[in-house]
Amino acid sequence: MFTTASASATLPKDLFRAIEDLKKELNAIVLAHYYQEPDIQDIADYIGDSLGLSQKAAATDAEVIVFAGVHFMAETAKILNPDKLVLLPDLDAGCSLADSCPPTEFSKFKAAHPDHIVVSYINCTAEIKAMSDIICTSSNAVKLVNQIPPEQPIIFAPDRNLGRYVAAQTGRDLVLWQGSCIVHETFSEKKMLQLKMEYPNAEIVAHPECEEAILHHAHYIGSTTALLKYVESSEIEQFIVVTEAGIIHQMEKQVPHKLFIPAPPDANCQCNECPHMRLNTLEKLYLAMKNRTPEITLPADIQKKALVPIQRMLTMSA
Ligand code: 13P
Ligand code: SF4
Repeated sequence: MFTTASASATLPKDLFRAIEDLKKELNAIVLAHYYQEPDIQDIADYIGDSLGLSQKAAATDAEVIVFAGVHFMAETAKILNPDKLVLLPDLDAGCSLADSCPPTEFSKFKAAHPDHIVVSYINCTAEIKAMSDIICTSSNAVKLVNQIPPEQPIIFAPDRNLGRYVAAQTGRDLVLWQGSCIVHETFSEKKMLQLKMEYPNAEIVAHPECEEAILHHAHYIGSTTALLKYVESSEIEQFIVVTEAGIIHQMEKQVPHKLFIPAPPDANCQCNECPHMRLNTLEKLYLAMKNRTPEITLPADIQKKALVPIQRMLTMSA
């Protein structure tokens, strides 16, 4: 496990340069999610949503994958690359949504619905993936569920908000596991509508992990990559962004003349920043590469079983 003791080691003055040097030395690729702090996004070789990151992890010929994201994302990269070294700057970078679906309880839930197949959102542990038939992400969930024969009953896990959204989009009667993300359930409908009154020309763009009351007001709903593409191509100049605030760094880089307003959380906090994602820092990323730890490891049987539904997703979303 990564400890703060190693963080006290002397750090180079120019971390960006040192990380670039280590990339060459290790033949490493740095993959980062949009919810990472801006410095990490800027040093990454590839930034993307969960689907893009999985596709990149599946295709890379780098020997080492440095995953700047949360544990389930790095785990997915390891499942796709069992023989490669996969590093996560801080092993404690978990996910409240993945934690909301413990394997023992989910196994009982599955047993109570024996004729159902399991479609699991990628934001779950490797154990849950191993119990699933198809993995999906927020960008392909609707497309994948639409490919399942209509008579086939489906459990959708673990996110109840994405599940409800997919059910509405596909007209399917999904059996939902009642999990959720602390960040996407933090937004206040009232404060968001007040903001909309202050910026009447702004459009609301939201991630499907948000609650129904929020999505109801959204002009556009999509994964982080889809939101980014939408704000780039739209003629609208102002957006209220209802997802983790890290994506705004990329939006401002892509279309600097537009205004992006982070949607306010319910409490007076920075709860629209994912506390798990933000555990990774540029310093920890450098140290992980320098020390080749902490690395992701998984039991071989789980790794093998979890690969099947992930590969199914990659094939079905091609
Ligand atoms: P994306 O599918 O947009 O990457 O969502 C990932 C995530 O963690 C949302 O909370
Ligand atoms: Fe998990 Fe939510 Fe953080 Fe995404 S934003 S990693 S779903 S806790």
